[in-house]
Amino acid sequence: MRARTDLACWQGSQGRREEFAVRVVLLGAPGCGKGTHSEWMKEDLGVPQISTGDILRDAVKAGTELGKRAKAYMNNGELVPDEVILGMMRERLAQPDAAAGFILDGFPRTIPQAEGLDGILGEQAVQLDRVIKIDVASDELVRRLTSRRVCPNCKAVYNIGFRPPKKEGICDHCGEPIIQRDDDTEETARSRLTVYESQTAPLIDYYKANGLLAVINGNRGFAGAQAETREILDL
Ligand code: AP5
Repeated sequence: MRARTDLACWQGSQGRREEFAVRVVLLGAPGCGKGTHSEWMKEDLGVPQISTGDILRDAVKAGTELGKRAKAYMNNGELVPDEVILGMMRERLAQPDAAAGFILDGFPRTIPQAEGLDGILGEQAVQLDRVIKIDVASDELVRRLTSRRVCPNCKAVYNIGFRPPKKEGICDHCGEPIIQRDDDTEETARSRLTVYESQTAPLIDYYKANGLLAVINGNRGFAGAQAETREILDL
């Protein structure tokens, strides 16, 4: 996969250091594991994870104009309008850390967002390296979402069944109390899955057509999905 030269360098898990920026999109339904896999990928690739969901939740918490606009959409499981997301991502991708590459988690989510991303990257004279789609069955997605807990401080992701913190209710990384997201009720989780099928799933064909898509099986547990991802990224 690492076939282009860029300014930044990255450190692979086997200690290799090379002169490449890596730009990856993680695609998949709510609860498929985008946030979970971003946690180890950002360490191994040495690039930031850019989660539109995390940026929006921070804005809601801080009560900014962006947060006020986004809150109702998020609580209803709907997508925040494309122009809001694209403005936010244009700013985020212009920050210096993104020059080293990135893992996009939750963006793009519609065809107009994907086209907008192509435009932003085109202006920077760079392009995506890979789009990794994590496949998980829909009943399993609802189970994972309703049993998820997150750290509002450092954004670590837990699951009360599959991946609990060492000390109940407390983040392993920063010691903050972990919480359940407002949109992780069963009703909102199901609406988010419907929105995914109608508005985000068309991106599968979009990225298949330009040869960037790789699909991994996320049904078989963390280690299997991690191994497949490592193989795709040559880590
Ligand atoms: P966002 O925060 O992006 O949510 P999402 O895409 O719905 O994805 P999730 O964070 O719910 O799931 P994930 O795939 O990261 O799964 P995770 O790793 O946590 O978006 C929230 C809202 O913001 C949207 O609804 C929308 O309103 C708005 N928004 C965000 N981006 C937008 C955009 N671009 N455009 C418009 N609006 C936008 O894993 C889930 C659970 O499963 C965890 O508990 C985890 O421990 C567990 N798990 C993970 N892997 C496994 C495994 N292999 N086996 C068992 N359990 C596992």
